[in-house]
Amino acid sequence: MSITHKTLIIGALGQIGSELAETLYARHGVENIICADIREPQTVQIEGKYLKLDVTDKAGLYEVIEQHEIRVIYNLAAILSAKGEQNPEWAWHLNMSGLLNSLEAARHFKGLQIFWPSSIAVFGPHSPRQNTPQYTVMDPNTVYGISKLAGERWCEYYAQKYGVDVRSIRYPGLIGYKSAPGGGTTDYAVDIYHYAVQHKPFTCFLSENTYLPMMYMEDAIRATLELMEAPAEKVKNRSSYNLGGISFSPKEIAASIQKHIPDFECTYVPDFRQAIADSWPQSIDDADAKMDWGWKGKYDMEAMTQIMLENITKQYLPQTQN
Ligand code: NAD
Ligand code: SER
Repeated sequence: MSITHKTLIIGALGQIGSELAETLYARHGVENIICADIREPQTVQIEGKYLKLDVTDKAGLYEVIEQHEIRVIYNLAAILSAKGEQNPEWAWHLNMSGLLNSLEAARHFKGLQIFWPSSIAVFGPHSPRQNTPQYTVMDPNTVYGISKLAGERWCEYYAQKYGVDVRSIRYPGLIGYKSAPGGGTTDYAVDIYHYAVQHKPFTCFLSENTYLPMMYMEDAIRATLELMEAPAEKVKNRSSYNLGGISFSPKEIAASIQKHIPDFECTYVPDFRQAIADSWPQSIDDADAKMDWGWKGKYDMEAMTQIMLENITKQYLPQTQN
């Protein structure tokens, strides 16, 4: 699909943003994608135009949209679950005002399409934990989950009340090798590979049998683009879609690594993140995403482990061999 208008990725230096940018460059041309973040791009390579932007600065956001004729925004700037618990007020402020600024912008600049990610964190201790349905009890008990649930309601409100074309996915824990994770409860499943390839023992902050829904990053990026490119009438849910992926425990991911690195050692010392994980689903029912816009995941845990190990190993080779 070719586009003639520009796309803005906010939070582009993060785990998802950096991979989304690469995919969008290849699809639509580097000149059509603008990356923005509150940080300087020190470690992440940005091929195209880069802007320093604070998503909570509404006037600054409007200026960027106007100046660059932005027609699509991926707003990925947020504080994740574990980090959010360290500073709830900050997490609430960033997660909510960033979203509201994007939604207001879409109301102001007609035809602006918004992607905003929600999370499995919208569920809570009273939600069913197995095959968690799209519509069920939701009582999140982290500030992150509360902000995502409130955000979903705002998305639907702006879609219904103002006709804003906002689309959203409740991502499971995302696992990729291209960038460092940023303060989530599911991030052990990224760090574990980095320890394994360096032949270092890994101490997991969750207990060995803690199952959580996860997804390899390439599947998540593909889901995001499929949802954004789906005809509007197929996007029946304007709050956020459940997305299933794969479910595994720390013990299972460690075992999948040991098939490649037999001397890899993993021990389990649960900390405050255990309570967060225990309040979340273990697996997700994504029948609506499948039915409405044809979602189908590709990667299982074994395929993901193989790709993660191969690519992270290269990152630790001396520069000349890399
Ligand atoms: P990340 O922490 O890696 O990236 C977030 C980026 O936002 C960072 O680069 C950060 O510098 C930037 N940022 C922070 N404050 C900002 C501000 N005021 N203005 C502009 N940029 C700012 O997070 P991620 O893993 O890439 O997640 C992106 C989005 O996806 C978040 O909304 C997150 O809640 C959601 N999500 C992620 C996962 C996951 O497993 N990674 C799962 C579910 C949902
Ligand atoms: N992966 C995210 C986290 O652990 C869930 O949204 O915070």
